[in-house]
Amino acid sequence: MFLINHRLRRSHDKLQDLLLRARLKVKPYYTYSVNNPKWLFMFLFSRFQVIRSHIQIFYPKAFIEDCSESIFEELDVETVVQALQKDGLYLGIQLPPTIIEEIVAFTMRKPCYANLNPQLMFHIDSKELWQEEYSSFFIVSDYVDPERHCYAIEKITQDPKLLKIAATYFNAKPVFTGSRLWWSFATNANFQERLNFAQELFHYDPIDYRSLKFFFYLTEVDVSTGPHVCVRGSHKNKKITHQLTFFIGRSDHDISQYYQQKDILTICGNIGFGFAEDPFCFHKGTPPQQRDRLMLQIEYCLNNYHF
Ligand SMILES: [Fe+2]
Repeated sequence: MFLINHRLRRSHDKLQDLLLRARLKVKPYYTYSVNNPKWLFMFLFSRFQVIRSHIQIFYPKAFIEDCSESIFEELDVETVVQALQKDGLYLGIQLPPTIIEEIVAFTMRKPCYANLNPQLMFHIDSKELWQEEYSSFFIVSDYVDPERHCYAIEKITQDPKLLKIAATYFNAKPVFTGSRLWWSFATNANFQERLNFAQELFHYDPIDYRSLKFFFYLTEVDVSTGPHVCVRGSHKNKKITHQLTFFIGRSDHDISQYYQQKDILTICGNIGFGFAEDPFCFHKGTPPQQRDRLMLQIEYCLNNYHF
């Protein structure tokens, strides 16, 4: 009897999660498809490895030879590309101290907006006051178009080594599609509240046929302060049911049933630590428990769908 009750409760919980995820996804997917039908085509077909690995023949090539102006002096482009091809992930890109200082100063100077809602603007140094003002609690907060307002971030987006890594990895000319600079706050938010901010379920991002993201921690990140988690090698290795689905999100249980534990990497690092990730790898954010986390993301794709 207990077993039946337990199973019924689990099925009910699963159905509730599914309905919540459908509610979160249907509207944006519909809007993207109506605004740009090419996006829908990409969303449906980019998940197939065979399409992703041949699509570059339709795109122009890029030849970036001179990397002398790069801010990443130690970074070896070939090593990063080889790791991306094999694992979909490269760990260990270090931001220079001057760039870190400039970005952190920017975050103190400029307002950000909470929970992906541009109506909830506030300054990070008075977060508690603004939470009371808006009668809301903040889970994440973002800065508006950071590469346009912070020179250090603009410089990273145009860095010749990062561009060369993307160009070599895509075997085509990369297009810069956006940066994101955001705080993830240490809160007691529940599963449903976090779901909207990619903090709970493993997922991959079908944002284009080929895409590459560079991430940099701007606060120290350990296991209790919201580390990014990535499944090494999952950009190429997915179950067919992971590909033929509307609901990309997968629980920890699903992921650990298919992938080896040694490939599920919890990525910690000091201030300025960075990594490159093919977003077709399964990945997730984790909620910070003890301190807030500040993170920068730089994204390149083959196409810009302008959303
Ligand atoms: Fe993601």
